[in-house]
This record gives sequence, structure tokens and C-alpha cells, in this order.
Amino acid sequence: MTDLSLSTAAVAGLRADAIVVGVAKGAQPDGGPVVAAGAEAVAAAYDGSLAGLLETLGASGAEGEVTKLPAPSGFKAPLVVAVGLGAGPEKGEAWDAEALRRAAGAAARALTGVRKAAFALPLEDAEAAGAVAEGVLLGAYVYDAYKESGKDEKARAKAGKGPLGEAVLLGGKPRDRAFKAAVDRGAAVAGEMNRARDLINMPPNDLFPASFAEIAQKAAKEHGLKVTVLDEKALAKGGYGGILGVGNGSTRPPRLVKLSYTSSKAKKHLALVGKGITYDSGGISLKPAGHNETMKCDMAGAAAVFAAVVAAARLGLDVDVTGWLCLAENMPSGSATRPGDVLRMYSGKTVEVLNTDAEGRLVLADGLWAASQEKPDAVVDVATLTGAMVLALGSRTFAVMGNDDAFRGAVHEAAEESGEDAWQMPLPEHLRAGMESATADIANMGERMGGGLVAGLFLREFVGEGTTWAHLDIAGPAFNEGKPFGYTPKGGTGSAVRTLVRLAELAAAGDLV
Ligand code: BES
Ligand code: MN
Ligand code: ZN
Repeated sequence: MTDLSLSTAAVAGLRADAIVVGVAKGAQPDGGPVVAAGAEAVAAAYDGSLAGLLETLGASGAEGEVTKLPAPSGFKAPLVVAVGLGAGPEKGEAWDAEALRRAAGAAARALTGVRKAAFALPLEDAEAAGAVAEGVLLGAYVYDAYKESGKDEKARAKAGKGPLGEAVLLGGKPRDRAFKAAVDRGAAVAGEMNRARDLINMPPNDLFPASFAEIAQKAAKEHGLKVTVLDEKALAKGGYGGILGVGNGSTRPPRLVKLSYTSSKAKKHLALVGKGITYDSGGISLKPAGHNETMKCDMAGAAAVFAAVVAAARLGLDVDVTGWLCLAENMPSGSATRPGDVLRMYSGKTVEVLNTDAEGRLVLADGLWAASQEKPDAVVDVATLTGAMVLALGSRTFAVMGNDDAFRGAVHEAAEESGEDAWQMPLPEHLRAGMESATADIANMGERMGGGLVAGLFLREFVGEGTTWAHLDIAGPAFNEGKPFGYTPKGGTGSAVRTLVRLAELAAAGDLV
């Protein structure tokens, strides 16, 4: 992983492979690029010509733009990397944390294979320092576990494809407690997002319910969490018909993992439930080719929950956080659930399975009911639940639904505060009728139109009476099939981790529920 430190060293004498500076978009209509705060010493060493040089090289300061140029004479580092920050803040106002996070991420990504870089970005306050730390560690992320170049550090160095080795954040106040705390928080959050990304990117022949549960047990031991794993026998004994019904087509049986972080100072208890389909083939309602190549990402909700519980422990938050990972592999076989089968769920309700590809709601139903039994102050589930939500909101925004308008709003706000794009969606009562079943209490399918909301309404039936609940459908942003951007790589993104951590912090402060 990338080493991170804060420093007040003079930039010219710094032994590094590159110096990163920020460039803002100038005022329109014809303003050229503007060197951002933090890079004053670098700009001065170019005798005031840095902005002009950048303009000559075609830089505009647009978000994510990376321009490389030789460092000024007298600098120990050979290279300056100018990264676009987009339009700057109003005069006298601070940079938006997410703009800093993205720029730091884009620069770190452009420095893949490099040993050491110094970042001279605007660190006006502790929040800015935390955002830059987060962005650097997220942008430096490389997934090469299955590549020749990822075999060991030597192979990585030889291929020049490893993550940026060391990042020094210049400026700021390294001895200021607030700065240090913000950077430590950023490092913990980014580290846990990268943990989620690793799990999402791991191929489904190696990541399956039992192996995921083992990884969780190992991390639990490391971070002092309590962990319980229900295997297929325990699930059958307990009556977890949803998780079993989805998992029974696979040769690799399902698991329900409960991870608990507890604090002696906790006044609130937050429960998190994650969809953990380690591979979604669709089951007997098999997905066609073209729709199954990325379905290893269908455990991204469980990965986010896992990462958030560990983050709460690393940050020592004064709140109890319980994570429920609903793990199953959705496969077709002679033992698989058939369209037409009726499952008896953990809550006691019966579900007619009309489409085995609507499996996420089945495993979550058991997880939500299990979580509700402990009477937490709130339950939040996270799931790559529906293609309908991807159609509605695109690939970068997740949906927030729930049974309490104020709580749903608070979750949306927590997402925005942490730099994640989210939008609130309704649970229209009239859509419940579409899930009426002639045989069972409810069917796992309803009207096609508004499919993301139908799924939300299904989940609502399995939330305990009086339990405050929100549902995040991250099917769009969980996995980036397009080009990398900002601090987001191709593949697993770590969507929802920051929002969940923020919720845990708010709950700890008594500002959530
Ligand atoms: N895992 C999928 C949803 C999904 C789609 C996630 C695209 C990520 C990207 C889910 O299990 C699914 O198959 N949903 C169906 C539900 C339908 C059968 C009611 C869907 O959205 O088509
Ligand atoms: Mn499915
Ligand atoms: Zn699925």
C-alpha cells in the first residue's frame, strides 16, 4: 500500500520522483489555467511562468486533466505533474473536499509505477488534508493479484505497474491534531474502500460464500470484532429460507456472517445489511450472455458493509455497528430453486419465487429480519439490487429508499457530505399490488416498470415493525465498466463505504437517530 505522510519540507530540496500541483480553471470567457494555492513555491521557481507554460502545453485546469512538465532548475525532483481541479471556489471560500479528492486521485493514478511523489495541493484546513489523503490512496489503487506483474514487489517494480509507493502531503499543519486526525481518518476510510474493491474484483472462482466468510473472520480477529458465521446447516436449523433458497443451486453453500463492533461508550446501535451474491448467473432464470460478465460484483453491498464495520473499529467510533453479510452464489442446477417454488423466509412469511434472478431481495429479506430482531436504532441495507435503478440513475449515482422520510434524507445528506452521488427514490404503495401471489404471502417479482422501487417495497416487508430503515441500491456505481476517472478505477469502486462510515460517525455523535 502507498505510504502517506504530512510534511513541511521545502519543495525544492525534496527527494521525490514528482511534485504534484493543482491547476484551477480560470474565470471565463478567456481565462487560462490558474495555479492553485499550495504550489506557490513551485510557481515561484518557474519565475512566474508556470501558468503560461501549462497553457502552452494545452492545460485548462479542467477536472481530472493531467499535464506533465520538467521541474524548475534547482529542484531535486525531476518532474512536475499538474492536475486539474475544475472551477475554483468563490473568493474567500475553501476548495470543495470532493474536488480535492478527485484531483488527488487523478494525480495518484497518473503516478502508477512511481516510487515517491510530493503533493503541493491546497491544504487550507484539516478537512482538505483528509480529502487529499483519501484521494491519493484511492487513486493509487491497483488490482494486479492475478497478473504476472502483481506476483511480488520485485515483479511490480520491474513492470512499473505497482501503486505509487510513497506520497508526501506538503503544507498543512503536520503537528496540528485536527490535521493529523483528518489524514488518519482519510487513510482508514480509503484503506477500507480499497478492501471492498479487492473483494469485488476477486474472481468468483476464488471468492464464494465460505471463502468470503473466512476473509471476514480473519479481519475480525485483526480488528477485535466479534464474528459469527452461520453455515448451511445452521441456516437450515434457523429457518433462513431466503438465503438457502438462493444458495441451493450452487455446489458452494451459502453463509450468513454477523460482524459486530461494539464500543463501551456507545449510545446508539446501527445495523448494516449487505447483499453478498458472490456470483449472479440468474439461476434457473439464467441471464443471457452480455449480462453476466460483471456479475462477480453482486457482492459489493456485503463488501461495503464489511469495510464499514472494520472502518468503525479502526476509527474507534462511539457507536455499536453490526454488519450482516448475506452470502450466496446464485447458480442453476438440479438442486436450484425453480421459478414457481415457494420459500419460507426467516421472518415466517412465504415467498413465491417467480424469477430466480430476483435473488438479492431474498437473501436481504433474511438479513433484514435478523438485523431487526436486535432492535437497532436504524438498519441500512446496501445492494447491487436492480438493473432498473441503473437505467434510472446511471452508473455513478445510487438510490436511497426507506420507511422514514427524515432518515432517508439524513442518509442522502451523509452521502453528499462524504462525496458520494445519491438520490432519493419513493416507495409508491400502488406497486405492492403487483407482488400479490396466488400461492404465497408475496411474490419476488412485480411490475417491470419501476423495478427498483418494487424491489424496495419487497424489502420493506421484512423490516421489523417500528424499525427505522433505509435501502441503498448501488447497482450503478458499484462497478465501473468504463474508463477510470478521478480516484475511481475500473472494476470495483467501494461505493457506499464512505456513506456508511459517515452514518456511523453521525450515530456516534447522536446526530442521526
Ligand atoms: N444483480 C442483479 C442487478 C444488477 C444489474 C446489478 C446490473 C448490477 C448491474 C439482480 O440480481 C437482478 O438480476 N435483478 C433483476 C431483477 C428482475 C429479475 C426483477 C433485474 O434488475 O433485471
Ligand atoms: Mn439477479
Ligand atoms: Zn443479483
